[in-house]
Amino acid sequence: MVGVNQKVRIGMIGYQFMGKAHSHAYRDLSFYFENPLKPELTVIAGRNEEAVKEAQEKMGWKSYETDWKKVIERDDIDVIDIVTPNHTHAEIAIAAAKAGKHIITEKPLALTVEEAKEMLQAVEENGVKHMICHNYRFVPAVQYAKKLIEDNKIGRVYHYRANYLQDFIMDPNFPLVWRLKKEVSGSGALGDIGAHSIDLARFLIGEFAEVTGTMETFIKQRPVGEMTGGLNAKGDANEMGEVTVDDAALFIARFENGALGTFEATRFAGGNRNKNKFEINGEKGSIRWDMENMNNLEVYFADDEEGTQGFRLINCTEAVHPYAGAYWPPGHIIGYEHTFIHLIDEFFRGIAEDYQPAPNFDDGVKNQIILEAIEKSSENKSWVSIE
Ligand SMILES: NC(=O)c1ccc[n+]([C@@H]2O[C@H](COP(=O)([O-])OP(=O)(O)OC[C@H]3O[C@@H](n4cnc5c(N)ncnc54)[C@H](O)[C@@H]3O)[C@@H](O)[C@H]2O)c1
Repeated sequence: MVGVNQKVRIGMIGYQFMGKAHSHAYRDLSFYFENPLKPELTVIAGRNEEAVKEAQEKMGWKSYETDWKKVIERDDIDVIDIVTPNHTHAEIAIAAAKAGKHIITEKPLALTVEEAKEMLQAVEENGVKHMICHNYRFVPAVQYAKKLIEDNKIGRVYHYRANYLQDFIMDPNFPLVWRLKKEVSGSGALGDIGAHSIDLARFLIGEFAEVTGTMETFIKQRPVGEMTGGLNAKGDANEMGEVTVDDAALFIARFENGALGTFEATRFAGGNRNKNKFEINGEKGSIRWDMENMNNLEVYFADDEEGTQGFRLINCTEAVHPYAGAYWPPGHIIGYEHTFIHLIDEFFRGIAEDYQPAPNFDDGVKNQIILEAIEKSSENKSWVSIE
């Protein structure tokens, strides 16, 4: 247990898309939430000195380093925040755990189940708090969906239906960035966005029992290039390289509670920029949500009066909706960036009150097991049970 208003000093590794989202969350946390801990943006790290210095100044960090190992060695750091590509998560997190730092890492946890389990072992052996950044759990409408399910408002769940649809790599000239290389990202649409759908399904309705899926790479060669922030990239039209991950992954699942799940994760769904959706059908009602209208939840109750039955639209901005009351009057909506504030609020409460917040590395391992099972089932054209 640490005291109220105690500083928690952050060392963040990486500074682009997620670097911006996490930096903003640290900066805004105390503005909206009465969290016992106050983040200090102590050090930001990256390999390119000019770029990391620019990020340090723009995002308000006190100092910078060009070698992440130096950040972990520093004794003025309490938390390591990992916002680098997936192949770096394990090495950084294990080193951070051994140095006694609390850790928040981006998803997916690692490249393989084996690596993910080593990460979990490291945080458990060293007694540090850990979280994985499945931020969509922290949308007020999603949290409220969870409450409705827990309050038995939709009864036994029959179906979980999820699509995570993007289109940012549809142009065949979109460059071969780290997200399209298996040795850096682990998998493609599956691990990048399918992992979020898996996490939401586990959060909302429970554990997976078995899966079967299929994956496809539509564009097999692309000009080499790199990410430049957000989901933008620049490439070199004169040099081509091989895409080694899936562009799309489709899978179906059986859940331990008997529900059936259908999932689609693709970056080739033209016109869908970040359509992260789910629909849940239960014996007493249905719930659906779409990130592109993230403040709203659609709910159907089978016991509504005849003639008025149908999906109703709930704008989850009332004080009764988790996290929403910290912001504005009802109807004054919030956005993507606020999901990260909520996740960090939970992380710091875990540190201050000495409990292990979720989603954490254990969730990351479970997610990775499902990702790997889907890949295996796609290769073998079979069902794979989840251990
Ligand atoms: N939670 C979400 O919704 C969400 C969204 C996007 C990305 N992500 C995850 O966040 C992580 C980062 O993705 P991003 O979109 O911010 O990537 P990005 O390409 O925008 O930024 C990556 C950062 O890591 C740095 N970097 C790359 N390799 C490095 C290395 N070997 N050592 C040190 N620094 C290195 C880069 O300089 C850059 O600052 C990934 O794991 C990704 O899956 C999560």
